[in-house]
Amino acid sequence: MNVTLKRDLEGVDWQAVANVYAETLGPEDPAQLARTWATSFATVLAYLDGRLVGAARAISDGEREALIVGVVVLPAFQRRGIGTAMMRALIEDLRRTAILLTCLEDENVSFYRSLGFRVHKRVMALGYPEGCYV
Ligand SMILES: CC(C)(COP(=O)(O)OP(=O)(O)OC[C@H]1O[C@@H](n2cnc3c(N)ncnc32)[C@H](O)[C@@H]1OP(=O)(O)O)[C@@H](O)C(=O)NCCC(=O)NCCS
Repeated sequence: MNVTLKRDLEGVDWQAVANVYAETLGPEDPAQLARTWATSFATVLAYLDGRLVGAARAISDGEREALIVGVVVLPAFQRRGIGTAMMRALIEDLRRTAILLTCLEDENVSFYRSLGFRVHKRVMALGYPEGCYV
């Protein structure tokens, strides 16, 4: 398996990125992806034999706080370590900061635990879909 992690945004096909989200977390607007990724602190795109199969990014000040969002691997390529490789790359970029992320599905809890994340007892949130709140 030949996985490459792309760490810059040069020449990114935003429609292809939107397609990966459409198959995982849901529809995204390619133009908005281009804007939000361009202003992110760190990004990672995973290619398997040249095909885009995964994506993730971090929003951060680079010193104290960070939020990792949009971590996805195409269903056909999950459980091969690609999500772990992308997360390790972001965590390395964020080694000086605390990191938050929201976990959409119970099954993802073990994925994030395997990377050292723990459940934070008092995260407050605003503006997320209604089903997210306790
Ligand atoms: C979450 C996600 C990114 C994980 O990517 P991945 O490439 O499959 O993850 P990895 O192969 O690196 O998994 C590493 C470990 O995490 C755990 N894990 C990953 N997916 C899991 C699942 N569905 N159920 C239980 N454990 C899981 C396992 O311990 C796994 O190790 P193993 O395969 O040796 O058992 C991927 O499942 C995904 O894109 N899901 C849909 C979108 C989504 O929910 N994104 C997260 C938003 S919070």
